[in-house]
Amino acid sequence: MKENLERVLIFDTTLRDGEQSAGASMSVEDKLLISENLNDMKVDIIEAGFPFASKGDFEAVKKISEISKYSVVCALARAQFSDIDSAGEAIKKAKRKRIHTFISTSDLHMKYKLRMNREEVLQAIKKSILRAKRYTNDIEWSPEDASRTELDFLYKTIEIAISSGARTINIPDTVGYAIPSEFSKLIKKIRKNVANIDKATISVHCHNDLGLAVSNSLGAITEGARQIECTINGIGERAGNAALEEIVMCLKTRKDKLPFYTNVNTKKITSVSHLVSSITGFSVQPNKAIVGKNAFAHESGIHQDGMLKNSNTYEIITPESVGLSSSELVLGKHSGRHAFKVKLQDLGYSFNESKINKLFKSFKDLADKKKQIFEEDIYALVDDEQNLLKKRAIDFLGLTLSCGYKSKSKAKISINYLGKKITKECDGNGPIDSIFKAIKKLVPNNASLVLYQVNAITKGTDAQAEVSVRLEEDGITVHGIGSDVDTMAASAKAYIGALNKLILKKKRQEESKESFFGQTKQKVDKHVI
Ligand code: KIV
Ligand code: ZN
Repeated sequence: MKENLERVLIFDTTLRDGEQSAGASMSVEDKLLISENLNDMKVDIIEAGFPFASKGDFEAVKKISEISKYSVVCALARAQFSDIDSAGEAIKKAKRKRIHTFISTSDLHMKYKLRMNREEVLQAIKKSILRAKRYTNDIEWSPEDASRTELDFLYKTIEIAISSGARTINIPDTVGYAIPSEFSKLIKKIRKNVANIDKATISVHCHNDLGLAVSNSLGAITEGARQIECTINGIGERAGNAALEEIVMCLKTRKDKLPFYTNVNTKKITSVSHLVSSITGFSVQPNKAIVGKNAFAHESGIHQDGMLKNSNTYEIITPESVGLSSSELVLGKHSGRHAFKVKLQDLGYSFNESKINKLFKSFKDLADKKKQIFEEDIYALVDDEQNLLKKRAIDFLGLTLSCGYKSKSKAKISINYLGKKITKECDGNGPIDSIFKAIKKLVPNNASLVLYQVNAITKGTDAQAEVSVRLEEDGITVHGIGSDVDTMAASAKAYIGALNKLILKKKRQEESKESFFGQTKQKVDKHVI
């Protein structure tokens, strides 16, 4: 306990519920990179994936289990032996491991989704937890759609889960339906009416359909929840989950009303937010709390004046506490390796010397094109470099372009596709059209472009451009982000980034079809609970 504050555990589900966001897909390498950062950030539990869902998910959970030094590694499983065995196998090598198993408990879900009655669900809870105990004693259990579950039945399910061996009881507001007063009362009632509740930690998992995920989570803490499930940038199914950065900074900033603490190193918040955004292709809205570009910007004269006199006038948290430095302008063409390394550390990065050398070279290249290098440029540079280091189906190699007012545009693009360098040229109506058509010639696909957006990362005409691209093919949506001082190169990078995700996502879909087909066979074999 710190200064009479109670600890709240942070359970990050960016790699599981976060990856379920429409359009987000992460490779095994992406997940490893994020999990390393979550470990550095000192997140208590990482929900690394749903191993039964696909080979890729299994592989990611297995690898994260091998490298996680600080965080408990958790795998998700439905109340089925096949899922639980796969989860248990995937986390086998983790220093500290957890299985999170769940089943729906609301009448609506039981009737239409599970086609099971209450007695069958109670039996399934018991059997699933007993099965999970073969692999670990750290078992978390969730009644899916808890906030719409009939109360007496909910209490019964929780009691059985605890007596069967669950140590954490997670209460999900699966469809983001609850409002704060109602959700905190639910936690209070659970504490009052479940006889053995003192033997488990209460957790909550709130979705953001009504924009209440963070408020509901905080309300739950005041009534006894001591674990919060959340994601970086609030990504997740539909409108997403409670945002980790908001939960953690609320607890840090309002200790007067919320006497709790977390172990999260808040200085890593900005860099991890950038990493997740660049991997998923989901840009963070500018006014997003804590990690939005404008979260610490003061536009009006009155506010700027107040800030100059005393920053407390309009700033309730310092930019430094989330890993932003106070000075906007950071480095320039003449900055040396040491200054660059210190800046990376200030921004919450902890890279080895060889990675710093690589990044320093990219920094020098950028400084040749751009006089002033801002923090945002450094984040973009690190994201870009991390993407380059990954194994991807397509790598962007180069672009030459001729275009002009009232003249045809011609783009020549080179890529590395499945290990082979290929180049194609294409005409188009304007530079973007010719670039995207050339890429389509190189990697034939039926994807349609549904969003193309350019933002300047910093100020000035020499600012780096950040381009976002969204593609859709056969009901699959993917996002790509690319940045460069050359907007056309940034566009090519974004389009290629999205195509890489499309390839990955299609592969995942195939794998999960195989997995779930296998399960149908198992059902016939009566291996299912
Ligand atoms: O939203 C939900 O109910 C979930 C469960 C698996 C906890 O994600
Ligand atoms: Zn969820």
